[in-house]
Order: sequence, then structure tokens, then C-alpha cells
Amino acid sequence: MKGIILAGGSATRLYPLSKAISKQIMPVYDKPMIYYPLSTLMLAGINEVLIISTPRDLPMFRELLGTGEHLGMRFEYKIQDVPNGLAQAFVLGADFLAGEKGCLILGDNLFYGQGFSAMLKRAAAIEKGACVFGYYVKDPRAYGVVEFDNEGKVLSLEEKPAVPKSHYAVPGLYFYDETVTEKAANLKPSARGEYEITDLNNLYLKEGTLHVELFGRGFAWLDTGNCDSLLEAANFVETIQNRQGFYVSCIEEIAWRNGWIDNHQLQKLGMEMGKTEYGKYLLELVK
Ligand code: G1P
Repeated sequence: MKGIILAGGSATRLYPLSKAISKQIMPVYDKPMIYYPLSTLMLAGINEVLIISTPRDLPMFRELLGTGEHLGMRFEYKIQDVPNGLAQAFVLGADFLAGEKGCLILGDNLFYGQGFSAMLKRAAAIEKGACVFGYYVKDPRAYGVVEFDNEGKVLSLEEKPAVPKSHYAVPGLYFYDETVTEKAANLKPSARGEYEITDLNNLYLKEGTLHVELFGRGFAWLDTGNCDSLLEAANFVETIQNRQGFYVSCIEEIAWRNGWIDNHQLQKLGMEMGKTEYGKYLLELVK
């Protein structure tokens, strides 16, 4: 399975910050935001990743992440000229996927919780259909919303409904089989003019192959859409890291634990970061 990170959009709710810098490059405590979704793909065992962004921002991602070789990974980059919907990621990413299964994650989605890696590995192993997730939120109106019957069977999926049929929002993390490119290519724009990921998921639902896994209440799915939620996410990461001493979404550590880089390579990355806490943390791992 290959991965796609969609890190585009205008992020108007983060003006004036996002006028100067891509939202997904902004810090969430001690690392750029894109590290968080990237680490999620890595925990799913995905080491080939396409990063899609705007003409302005793509060079920044390229400078930050390079070819991926230092992490034992492979990164490709693609411009999305107009931010016209998440499902477009699979049209822009068709060559990259080259007929393989694909996982899409949004560049501003941060996930954290016990058992997450195992859940991701199960989702990535999907043979047929799609796997998406459901997360209980107080107000789901800004999201895709999934409705279940009493047996947990999915009844409907709606994008940003004014009157949601449940409290379960669908986070920006989607696993699809190899039919995704063809399905995405045949979508029509919605009333708001976007190629909706919810329409893509609805095709799988109609086909009877949509799996929805629920994240429990001990799980964190954080948003970074405005200044308050960005600060809250930073505080969350700081709290966990300082309490436990383990870093959240440390891509170098995950690459090393996945066996994609060896002790020597990790040491080199640590040294490159000099005397920063981050660098020291990497060096401690191989001591
Ligand atoms: C998008 C999707 C929505 C999903 C959300 C998750 O919303 O359209 O279904 O629940 O991401 O973050 P948007 O970011 O376009 O508002």
C-alpha cells in the first residue's frame, strides 16, 4: 500500500499566519505539523508517500522532507493547482499509485492513542473495499458524518450535514483498495464545487465494501484548523512528551523502529540536529 498526504488549501482561518507559511509546516509544539500525518502512514507500514500541495507550498515540503532516503522511505511531490476537493488526491496521485492500494491522510490531522498502530496495520491489510474511521465529537457539523444502525451497520455518510444523523465524524484518514483511482476519476463535483471524499466513500458503501472502525473515547483525534485548536494540539503533545519522555510522531524514531534505518543512520540524524532536545532524544535511543 502507498500513502498520500494532502497538504494544500488556503487555511483562511489561520490568517495572517497562513498567508506567509503553509499551515502544515507550522509547528505543533516541537515539530512541523506534517510530521504527525506522516508518522501515521509510517505506523501503518507505508514507506512510499506522495505529498500534494499548492504551487507556493510544495517547495517547502520538498526542502523539509527531501527524497525520504534519510528515513529509508521514498517521497514524491505533486502540485494541486486548485484546492477542489480531497478525492482529487487520487486523480493527481494515479501515476504514483500505479494501480496499487492507497491510503490518504490530511496534512493537518493528528491522531494519538493506544493500539493505534495495530488498527492501522489492519486497515492497510484490506484486500477489497475501503476502511475509514468514526470518532465521536460534540459537534460533527463540520465533518463527514457516519450513521449506524443498532448492529453497527453503516446506514449513511453525509458531508457537513446541517442536521447530523449521529455524533460520529469521519477523520481525514482513508484506506482504499486498488479500484480507488478509477472511482475517483469518475466523481462529479458537489454543490460546493468540490470532489468530495464522502462521495467516494459512498461509492464503496453502495458496493457494500465500506468498513468503518471506531476510535474509542480514550483516543485523540485533534484538529488544527484555527489558532485555538493549533495551540491545544501543541499543548497536548507537550503534555504527553514531558510526562512520559517519549516523543509523539517522531518520524526518525519510527523509521528506526520499523527497521527502515539502522543505528548508524539514526545517530547521524541526531547529530545533524545538534544540541536540540530533539537531536538529543534521537541520540539517546541508540545509546
Ligand atoms: C474534510 C472532509 C470531511 C472530513 C474532514 C476531516 O473536511 O471533507 O469529510 O470529516 O476533512 O478533517 P474539510 O477539511 O474539507 O472541511
